[in-house]
Amino acid sequence: MPPRSTPSDPSDPSNPSPAPTRKDGRDARAPGDGNRLYLGDNLDVMRSLPCESIDLIYADPPFFSGRSYGLNPSSEGSQPHFRDQWPQGLEGYLAWLVERLREMRRLLRPSGSLFLHLDWHAVHYAKVEMDRIFGYDHLQNEIVWSYHSGGGSRRRYGRKHDTLLWYTASREGYQFNTDEVRVPYDAAIASSRRRLFHRDGKVDGSVWEIPRPPNHSKEWTGYPTQKPEVLLERIIRAHSLPGQVVGDFFCGSGTTLVVSHRLGRQWVACDCSPIAVEVASARLRQSGEATAQGGLPATQFIVDEGPFPEDRLPVRPPD
Ligand SMILES: C[S@@+](CC[C@H](N)C(=O)[O-])C[C@H]1O[C@@H](n2cnc3c(N)ncnc32)[C@H](O)[C@@H]1O
Repeated sequence: MPPRSTPSDPSDPSNPSPAPTRKDGRDARAPGDGNRLYLGDNLDVMRSLPCESIDLIYADPPFFSGRSYGLNPSSEGSQPHFRDQWPQGLEGYLAWLVERLREMRRLLRPSGSLFLHLDWHAVHYAKVEMDRIFGYDHLQNEIVWSYHSGGGSRRRYGRKHDTLLWYTASREGYQFNTDEVRVPYDAAIASSRRRLFHRDGKVDGSVWEIPRPPNHSKEWTGYPTQKPEVLLERIIRAHSLPGQVVGDFFCGSGTTLVVSHRLGRQWVACDCSPIAVEVASARLRQSGEATAQGGLPATQFIVDEGPFPEDRLPVRPPD
């Protein structure tokens, strides 16, 4: 099936500006050659993309939670559109995940980073696999995203954090824009050491206190596993530059995509759920309107339902 028409498609009369096309008239496929939202299995999609073509990948896969999700929390269990259930158990889940993480590693540029977002269910097993794929010494941080809400229990401590593993393609020479993640120094530190301080504060630690998007906020789409824009903003600012390419192959409601656009990054994304692609498309159109009013051009993107031919380029496309 050819790419589906979206409001960013030139065939749509309401589209204010043309969708990106390659000058040679071929279908744009290389990341950075027009924003593209793929509907399909991300393994097929990633296999169709060239090596070393993405600067930053955020991966927020199913967590091995055993749950199935409906479009809003109260409908959980009814009409699930996203299942995190694994009849073949942990082994089956890990085999599924590892295949995809290997492809992500192949897609990363040498200065690139991958953030793998999981929680207590499987993050320790996934770390062992990531060490095998990237190298043990390519883990830069284990980040704790602490969110305070949910997870309460009388039988154990409340489960109120997720874990993000930050791996880099190279052990050194990776993108880390430290000025984007500075926070004030502790007031208690002796003033005699102040002359050593950076005027904009210290580089933040690995525990990030960021609330989940509240259900009544403008940001909330109703997508059950939606992540906060502030979390993605921090990752994208610190690990990519304007104009670079951000990838999200489990994009859900499109949080990474709207934030990437707002920050002037290009993006490539995928989800296998038609509902996710619908929610993300609507969100991108809305955010396009908001950013256009704020001075940025509207979001340009194509929804692509495949097929996804395996035409890997052995080397990355020119910058
Ligand atoms: C945890 S959610 C991502 C939420 C997202 N970060 C957000 O902010 O909305 C995981 C997503 O992965 C998608 N998914 C699961 N298996 C997939 C696969 N093989 N290919 C593509 N997407 C997949 C699910 O449909 C779901 O939307």
